[in-house]
Amino acid sequence: MALWGGRFESGPDALFKALNDSLRFDYRLALHDIEGSVGWAKAIHRAGVLTAGELGTLLGALGDLKAEIAKQPELPAASNDEDIHSYVERRLIEKVGVLGKKLHTGRSRNDQVATDLRLWTRAEIDERRGELRECRRSLIELGRREKETVFPGYTHLQRAQPVLLAHWCLAYVEMMERDDARLGDARARVNVCPLGSGALAGTAYPIDRALLADGLGFDSPTRNSLDGVSDRDFVIETLAACSLAGVHLSRLGEDLIIYGSQEFGFFEFDDKVSSGSSLMPQKKNPDAAELLRGKSGRVVGALVSLLTTVKGLPLAYNKDLQEDKEPLFDAMDHLSLCLRVVPKILDTLKVRREVCERAAAGGYSNATDLADYLVGKGVPFREAHEQVGRAVRSAMAKGVALESLPLDALREHCPRVDADVTGRISLESGMARREIAGATGPNSVSVALDEARSRLGR
Ligand code: ARG
Repeated sequence: MALWGGRFESGPDALFKALNDSLRFDYRLALHDIEGSVGWAKAIHRAGVLTAGELGTLLGALGDLKAEIAKQPELPAASNDEDIHSYVERRLIEKVGVLGKKLHTGRSRNDQVATDLRLWTRAEIDERRGELRECRRSLIELGRREKETVFPGYTHLQRAQPVLLAHWCLAYVEMMERDDARLGDARARVNVCPLGSGALAGTAYPIDRALLADGLGFDSPTRNSLDGVSDRDFVIETLAACSLAGVHLSRLGEDLIIYGSQEFGFFEFDDKVSSGSSLMPQKKNPDAAELLRGKSGRVVGALVSLLTTVKGLPLAYNKDLQEDKEPLFDAMDHLSLCLRVVPKILDTLKVRREVCERAAAGGYSNATDLADYLVGKGVPFREAHEQVGRAVRSAMAKGVALESLPLDALREHCPRVDADVTGRISLESGMARREIAGATGPNSVSVALDEARSRLGR
């Protein structure tokens, strides 16, 4: 049953219907459509459109329908309705007869769909934020398990300076806290109620929109009906926050993949999050981490898709806006999957501590510490840098570490070096000298872990 038959002589062409109908994907909004309809029924009752008895009957039927849909989350195969709003209205009329036809008084599918989608997005944002918390918890736990593990820090993917593995964990915690905050910011602008905007000009019935909004858990009603039915910036903003979260997961995935490769050998993934090769019997592949990296593409794609859809649309509602749902649903589904897999990867991750430590000690990553040591002896930093550079070159030629160069050989390049240098260029001393807020010194990291844990609230 179409909601608009009266003006038409013929029904829709089958191909047009295939193009136009959205039920196959917007059935996902069913429960939110019912929730919005409950709010609307109460609002038009307050406005004098429905008697108390009629309201009671409608609410009872909406409640029954909700229970039925909750039991059957997949779209019933035979449904041929145009969209979820038509579906719910048809089912309601089947239940209560002609009274069901009163519910749409003063309402348009334009304000209805904008409301449904805000309700849906709000709930999903809350879920993603919960999932992000679990990722942070896993990272913090990994940091605590590996509190002492020294790890090579990289720039340009070249060994740079040693850091604690926990410091690396906390870097991702920071990113995820900002992802959480961005979703929270987006939520504030999602949580505004367009219902009562009608098709575009506002409803002609004396609806108390503030009460309606409040009843649906919104912070306030939208302020302009043209805007309320036609902007999807709340979806775009949510997808932007999701995209950044996806990009952060992608970087985490990439770090895990590299560090888990045989060339690095720092990490080993549990069998539960790895897969094998159909051809090469020896293979164990980091597919989970690769998909953290790979899935981010489609989330960013959803953002770009919707930006492109909204760009250039005249006010107010246009059917193009129906294209908002699939990218949003897809991005949310896949981001959710990734976020839920992260703890599975991290909680079972095997860290090869000795390999990490050996790598951290290699690659002349204590060269900066030697330069700092010389600065302490009164050598200007730029000169110290030059001297240490030459010392590194000669150590490399001999195939030894800086600390293995005999004192005399070191003095050839760095004349101010004394016997006390040994204690100043070890891994431990390099770490211990970085006890400043935000740095990798063991005490700073330990404090940072505690703080991150208390921000998590447990
Ligand atoms: N299925 C539509 C959508 O998702 C609902 C709104 C339809 N409004 C209209 N005037 N045809 O946008």
